[in-house]
Amino acid sequence: MRRILGWAAAAALVLTGGSAAAQGYPTRPITMIVPFAAGGPSDAIARLLAQSMSGTLKQQVVIENVAGAGGTTGAARLAKAEKDGYTVLIHHVALAAGASLYKSLPYDTLGDIEAVGLVNYGPMVVTTKKDYPANDAKTLLARLKADGSKTTAAHAGVGSNSHLCNLLLQQALDVRFTEAAYRGTGPAMNDVMAGQVDLLCDQSTTAVPQIQGGTIKAHAVTSKDRLAVIKDVPTLAESGLPNFEFTIWHGLYAPKGTPAAAVEALNKALQVALDDAAVKARFADVGTQVFPAAERSPAIHRARLEKEVATRKDVVAKAGISAGN
Ligand code: MLT
Repeated sequence: MRRILGWAAAAALVLTGGSAAAQGYPTRPITMIVPFAAGGPSDAIARLLAQSMSGTLKQQVVIENVAGAGGTTGAARLAKAEKDGYTVLIHHVALAAGASLYKSLPYDTLGDIEAVGLVNYGPMVVTTKKDYPANDAKTLLARLKADGSKTTAAHAGVGSNSHLCNLLLQQALDVRFTEAAYRGTGPAMNDVMAGQVDLLCDQSTTAVPQIQGGTIKAHAVTSKDRLAVIKDVPTLAESGLPNFEFTIWHGLYAPKGTPAAAVEALNKALQVALDDAAVKARFADVGTQVFPAAERSPAIHRARLEKEVATRKDVVAKAGISAGN
C-alpha cells in the first residue's frame, strides 16, 4: 500500500510538471539577467519591469548585467541556470539572430530557453554625435556613402540590434563603416555623446531622452511610420532608403524545464507590469509600446521567437557574416 501511495505521489508530480519545486513560488529573490551593460535599453526596460514584478511576486527581482558577445553570454548564463523559476532573462530579437550568426553557441536557442511572455516593441533611431557634419537624413546618408570606412559606428556587440541595424544600413548604402563594439549601447551612447564615435543606431528607449536633451543628433527612425515623440525625425524610408524597416521587440525568458507554475506566475506578474498605466506611459514616452494583452501568452511569444530565428537567418546569410569559432 505504501509503495502504491509513493507511486501515486510520483505520478502526481510528473503530471503537474514537477510543480512541487514551484509550490509557494517564489519564496526567495529572483535574478533577472540583462545580457548587456547597464544604461542601455535592455537594462532600462528590465529595471522598469523588475520594480513592478517585485511588488506582484512579493519577492525582490534583482537585476544582474551579464554582458558580452552581443547578448549571447547572458543567454548562456540563463540556459545553464537551475530550472526553478529563480533566474530569468530579458532579451530582444538578437536572441534569434544569435542562433544563426554564431557558428557555435553554448546553448540551443529554441531547445534550452523557455518563452515567458512578450514585453514591448519599437523602432531604432539613427543618431550621430552632436557635431557630425549633417543636419538631416538625406545629407547624412550621402555623407555616409561618400565617407565609407572613415565613419566610425558603435554597436553593442556582434548580433545585437545596434549591430544588425548597422549592417542593414551598410548593405543599403553599399559601404563598410569602421565598427566599434561595446558591451551594450549604454557605454556606446556615452562615447557618441562625448564625440568619440560618429554613428549609433540605438533603440528609441534610450535614444529619445538624449535626442530631447540635445546631447546627440537624430537623423531617421527605422520604423515604417514616424515616432510621435520625435515627430520631426523622418523615417529612413522617406529619406531615400524606401525598403528600410527594422523594428525590435523584447521578451522575458526562463530556462527550458522551469516548472509550469513558476512560468505562469512570472507571466502573470509581467502582465500586471504591462497593464500598469505608469509603466505604459514610461514606455510610450520613449517611443516603445507594450504588447497587447491578447499577445502576451508564452505560446505566442514562443511562436514569434521561432519565426524570428528563421527570418533573421536570411539577414545574416545576406550579410555574409558569422561570429565565433
Ligand atoms: C542592442 O543594440 O542590441 C541593445 O541596444 C543593447 C543594449 O540593450 O544595451
